[in-house]
Amino acid sequence: MLESLEKIKNESINDIQSAQSTADCDQLKSFFLGKKSPLAAVLKDIPSLPVEQRSVVGKRANEIKQELSAYIQEKKQTLHTQQLEHSLSHDSTDTSLPPFKIRNGAFHPITSITRDICDIFSRLGYSVKQGPNVESDFYNFEALNIPEHHPARAMHDTFYLKNKQVLRTHTSPVQIREMLSKKPPVKIIAPGKVYRCDADVSHSPVFHQIEGLCVDKGLTFSDLKGTLEFFLHELLGPEKNIRFRSSYFPFTEPSVEIDVEFKSKNKSSWMEIMGAGMVQRKVFKHVNYNADDFTGFAFGLGIERIAMIKYQIDDIRLFYENDSRFIQQF
Ligand code: PHE
Repeated sequence: MLESLEKIKNESINDIQSAQSTADCDQLKSFFLGKKSPLAAVLKDIPSLPVEQRSVVGKRANEIKQELSAYIQEKKQTLHTQQLEHSLSHDSTDTSLPPFKIRNGAFHPITSITRDICDIFSRLGYSVKQGPNVESDFYNFEALNIPEHHPARAMHDTFYLKNKQVLRTHTSPVQIREMLSKKPPVKIIAPGKVYRCDADVSHSPVFHQIEGLCVDKGLTFSDLKGTLEFFLHELLGPEKNIRFRSSYFPFTEPSVEIDVEFKSKNKSSWMEIMGAGMVQRKVFKHVNYNADDFTGFAFGLGIERIAMIKYQIDDIRLFYENDSRFIQQF
């Protein structure tokens, strides 16, 4: 019995010596010292031995167990040191280099201004509505009192699609959709993309507008003026100079355009940012509202324009170039 113990010991030591990695050592450990090991089999047989042999064999088996365990531990330590030395001399990682900078994401200025505007108007009780980008001629023009051959159509530089459909040239069709689906009072704003066949430093074929519409009993031009003055001062700061200039839109009467003072370097100029007016009676007729009972005002503004004023950007194309260095600044 003692002989077979020595044999187990020698065979195990041979195997341990040829281990290649610390993982091999772990495997050998459970193989040689675990419950199903040859050594465990010997220990299990001890009760069947003659009494005088039991303690001798038991003692030796336990010694061997401890020797093997120490041997594996030592081998493992040696391999670990070798692996470490190998990776330190072969890997080219320089742990003293500064880490990469983690770059935070940022909202695109168009997104954050749209959100700011929606926030201001929701405080005034307006809800946000959206409409399709592909519109029918009826919603984009006809119902807004821009019949065929009306000169205003030429001003819109429209992208025409099949079947009397267009890429909407403004967000005003959302006014019509809302009024056709609901009785007054109405208080909505409608942000979204609009399309015009035009491109230079201050015009892009796709840009963003926000439309606003408020219809109720007894609304007057003072309500329009008060609302828009409040809104622009909330958005751009109370010290910002704004002016109302009389204008023309087929779907509002009277109509105005609103300019904001735009200071760049050492000169100051006025920049037009929105159109507005009292809803034309003919528009109410298209949506079956009684123009003797209700009045309303509407407005539409270009978001890029506002962003250009707010952040003093002089080329609209920067918004669409997807240069993250540009976006990170806001
Ligand atoms: N839809 C007009 C435009 O795109 C803006 C506008 C909206 C004017 C609502 C008056 C009322 O220029």
